[in-house]
Amino acid sequence: MHRGVKASLVPLRLPLQVRDPERMRRIHALMRRFQVLSVVASQLNPMRFPPALRGVWEKLQYPYYALKGLGPRPKCVPPLTLMFDGPRSYREFIESGNEMASYYVELAHLKPDDSMLDVGSGIGRRTLPLLTFLNQDGSYVGMDIVKTGIDWCREHYNNYPNFEFRQIDVRNKHYNPNGTYAASEYKFPFPSDQFDFVVLNSVFTHMMPPEVENYVAEIARVLKEGGRCLISFFLLNDESLGMINKHRSVFDLRYEFGPARSISKDMPEIAVGYDESFVVDLFNRYRLEITPQIYYGSWSGRSDYLSFQDLVVACKVSR
Ligand SMILES: C[S@@+](CC[C@H](N)C(=O)[O-])C[C@H]1O[C@@H](n2cnc3c(N)ncnc32)[C@H](O)[C@@H]1O
Repeated sequence: MHRGVKASLVPLRLPLQVRDPERMRRIHALMRRFQVLSVVASQLNPMRFPPALRGVWEKLQYPYYALKGLGPRPKCVPPLTLMFDGPRSYREFIESGNEMASYYVELAHLKPDDSMLDVGSGIGRRTLPLLTFLNQDGSYVGMDIVKTGIDWCREHYNNYPNFEFRQIDVRNKHYNPNGTYAASEYKFPFPSDQFDFVVLNSVFTHMMPPEVENYVAEIARVLKEGGRCLISFFLLNDESLGMINKHRSVFDLRYEFGPARSISKDMPEIAVGYDESFVVDLFNRYRLEITPQIYYGSWSGRSDYLSFQDLVVACKVSR
């Protein structure tokens, strides 16, 4: 195991707890105020800084990383300048990875010998904790449309034969605008009934309705019967829509695209939310039975939540 990475997965705090709602409201209000800036900031990825500035940014993070007690940067933690898919610090990279891995185990019953597929694996934020969880009989495939992330993971996970990374050249206006294949028609490069577990973290929050429909069909196809999936969403229901209308939500999902809504008319892929009943019907159509509870997140401004995004766990059933 790498120094600095927690050996065990962080414990889950279930049942859902109210975690200082007043503080969350203040944070959300601040985030809302800076939403426009955050859209701009998402374009201002340190990866796109001029090399000199990128070097300074990177160097400043090392003392921060050491001071926070995270130890030296482990081999499978990418440099900040390559983190194109969300985190802007090492701490965030490691903690959010650990958090999500604990949900795999506690909510979706991931087992050490399971075969799993991580669709939209980015640069491995959610992969790292699995190095110490999956055993030799278990396997992990990360699949993404951004070549830099896949190349980096391939190089740095080369000592782990049961970890594999595949680049697929699928189009996404935000992440891979010149990709060859349409996500609405793409067939995953795996035979049917192959995986025990499929996960999509913050991926459908960047995809449009026909694309999500096709991907759900593909997820159902590649899952074994009895296999599970865990997928994160921004779900639109009475509560979250009410919060959006009252300006309590982090994202002002105001532009409608059929069953979806986005914060941007021109680049909807920046943040997309889905009508909850559309998601339930879609899963049902493909024999993906959603567990009774949906684990709502804090993004909408709710005071009881589990994570940031809403988490849907489902099991492929025979019918
Ligand atoms: C916000 S990042 C999340 C990355 C990773 N799942 C995580 O949680 O750290 C969204 C990821 O989805 C990927 N993505 C977007 N559209 C995709 C598609 N059609 N197929 C596979 N991956 C896609 C992006 O390249 C990006 O890596």
